[in-house]
Amino acid sequence: MKKLKLHALVMSGLCAAGLLASSAALAFDADEAQALAKKEGCFKCHALDKKKEAKSLTDISKSLKGKSDAEAKLLHHLTVPEMVKFEDGKEEEHKILKTKDKAAIKNLTDWILSLAK
Ligand code: HEC
Repeated sequence: MKKLKLHALVMSGLCAAGLLASSAALAFDADEAQALAKKEGCFKCHALDKKKEAKSLTDISKSLKGKSDAEAKLLHHLTVPEMVKFEDGKEEEHKILKTKDKAAIKNLTDWILSLAK
């Protein structure tokens, strides 16, 4: 009897930990992220899910998916200007984020990484 009780306790503990972990993984605000992307002008070239002047954010998310350094890569791309090639072949320095708000940037990268389901 005692053993059973302990088991139940451990199980409920694990469930609570699982819940915490999953809510931490979803701790981004999609509306806020989109608003920032809009404000920063990302949507001028990247649509959410169809190709524009550049790949869609969903395609970008897909190409990063599963890479262990996905977040670092994304962050690098958004904070260090590098040359990128457009669909029509022209090359330009990629736009970097104007905001220096780390929490807002993390919210944006989490959201982008979440787009590839
Ligand atoms: C002037 C047009 C333009 C703007 C504005 C722009 N991008 Fe890009 N971006 C590109 C091009 C072109 C590429 C490279 C080719 C491609 O992805 O189609 C690129 C590449 C990227 C990549 C890397 C994709 C990969 O797979 O390597 C990321 C991430 C990205 N953009 C995110 C953003 C975000 C977020 C913003 C807003 C801060 C933004 N871009 C604004 C044109 C733009």
